[in-house]
Amino acid sequence: MTRRTTALSAAIALAGALALTGCSSSGDDPKLEVSGAFMPQPVTDMAGGFLTIKNAGDAADKLTSVTSPLSDDVTIHETKNQKMQEVKSFDIPANGELNLERGGNHIMFMSLKQQPKQGDKVSIQLHFEKSDPITVELPVEAPNHNPQKH
Ligand code: CU
Repeated sequence: MTRRTTALSAAIALAGALALTGCSSSGDDPKLEVSGAFMPQPVTDMAGGFLTIKNAGDAADKLTSVTSPLSDDVTIHETKNQKMQEVKSFDIPANGELNLERGGNHIMFMSLKQQPKQGDKVSIQLHFEKSDPITVELPVEAPNHNPQKH
């Protein structure tokens, strides 16, 4: 009984969300694409994740959280004055991009459930304010890996 009620309210919430989305004109949505993702091989039970999210749409979005089977404690961090601190979200500007790169903004994995090695892949899911979640496989690279931008 409880379960059915929950499913029903979820369906109503979903219908509401769809109706809301339908109100904004098409072409006004963020269009996100992830590239250059990697994780340097962790040397402790913490790891960082780096990637670029391009937004080809005419609406801004926000990266609000990241989840992964590798850790139950995944947060997003910015680096200010060489100190990192957790943030609630990162802006992804319309027709712009969000760069998570070494020395700057990054994804932080704490209390790793296992130690991924170079050549492994780590699955993560990116959650956004507007867009549907995107699943990304992070190739594990050498601990000092730091690709130059083109
Ligand atoms: Cu951090």
